[in-house]
Amino acid sequence: MKHLLISLGLVVVAQTSAQTLKTLADARGIHIGAAVTFPGSPAVYDTTLNREFNGIVCENAMKFGSIMTGENSFSYTGADAIVNFGVARGMFVRGHNFLWHKQMPSWFSSTSYTPSRDSTFRMMKKYINAVMTHFKGKINEWDIVNEAVARDSVGMRPGTGAFAADQNSKWALLTDAANHNYDYIDSAFAYARRADSTVLLVYNDYDCEGMGKKSNMVYNIVSGLKSKGLVDVIGLQCHFYVGPSTSGSNGAWVPSELVTNFQRLAALGLRISLTEVDVRIQTSPAPDAALLALQRDGYKTLMSICLAQPACKSFFTWGVNDAQSWVPGSFSGYGVALLFDNTSSGSPATFTRKGTYLGVQEALLATTNLRGLRANGLRLIPLDAHSRGFDLRGRNLSVFPYNPNFVIRKSITSQHKQ
Ligand code: G3I
Repeated sequence: MKHLLISLGLVVVAQTSAQTLKTLADARGIHIGAAVTFPGSPAVYDTTLNREFNGIVCENAMKFGSIMTGENSFSYTGADAIVNFGVARGMFVRGHNFLWHKQMPSWFSSTSYTPSRDSTFRMMKKYINAVMTHFKGKINEWDIVNEAVARDSVGMRPGTGAFAADQNSKWALLTDAANHNYDYIDSAFAYARRADSTVLLVYNDYDCEGMGKKSNMVYNIVSGLKSKGLVDVIGLQCHFYVGPSTSGSNGAWVPSELVTNFQRLAALGLRISLTEVDVRIQTSPAPDAALLALQRDGYKTLMSICLAQPACKSFFTWGVNDAQSWVPGSFSGYGVALLFDNTSSGSPATFTRKGTYLGVQEALLATTNLRGLRANGLRLIPLDAHSRGFDLRGRNLSVFPYNPNFVIRKSITSQHKQ
């Protein structure tokens, strides 16, 4: 009997491990996706995407600097290739992103570009309208504002203190952040809602997955936006590390805090998307078996937490394989943060599934929370339900709760009321 049980167990393991992440995720109503830079080259990259993922997002091709090449010119070639790849395969397509303090076009970041507050809003509206119109019907959810809050102890961008120099947001600076006025956030969401009411709108940020000062600030932002009908999804980036680290607080995470934070965000009526998951570990010296096991368990835990929270709908990794990951370039001595290994060439080239992959697979297999088949249809969000009460600059909106010094300016010019 014992022998039989063991045999049966082996059979079960053999069967289940053959199921891809995509197959498992489809059946559990969750989007598992990856950020990509070059679908179509090499071919195995496509093969892996097709086999393992039901979601996709442009790592860089859809950012402001990639798309809006001039004040009146747009370039969609790179983004089109990735978005159309996803649409053709019925993937859940994320848009990333509209307003960020990095990867801006040079004409915008130039110190000689100093439009008035009103002109900045006009340009922002034109930008969002044009890009959302171009991709209409293809994008499921879109990061409208990315990383408006700096790290702990700094506050809203532009902040003060240690991180101020590299964390300024030109969007904030041009639209009156000097007076603690951050209505560019509401405005961007309002423009987006009006441009395409079928897209789920996302506020996306990092280091706010657990509990803490930044997490509270992000909670207050999305709470305010949600009360005005302007946001549908909180995007939690999830750039994590496990193991001994000297890289500061950035990326440290406590699973129980995630559970708590997910609960309070879900209670606002928001969907939760894990948008840029990677779990980096020390690579120099090379990681030992214990560290790799910790990393595998980290991925498993994160997916388990998402599956246990009905509001958590998406789990996107920030890249497919370690060779294309942003991590080693930004965290010296850290890496191997993704689900597939470094191999990206050879004949035929192959991406090998890592322990991290098996951790995610185990979590998917273990869940009893089958949510039904994944639905990918774009939905229409009734415009009237969301657009009441504010103009295109978000002017009728109440004071943001996170900043007691917030100043509401009354000088609305007529052109913003359309
Ligand atoms: O395109 C140029 C190329 O022409 C040039 O030769 C090369 C030389 O370094 O640089 C290329 O641009 C690089 C770009 O990625 C495209 O590869 C930039 O230097 C590089 O800084 C940029 O890094 C990206 C980073 O955002 C920028 O901050 C990463 O690939 C991308 O993974 C990363 O993604 C962000 C998310 O958007 C937001 N959340 C954090 C996440 C990680 O930083």
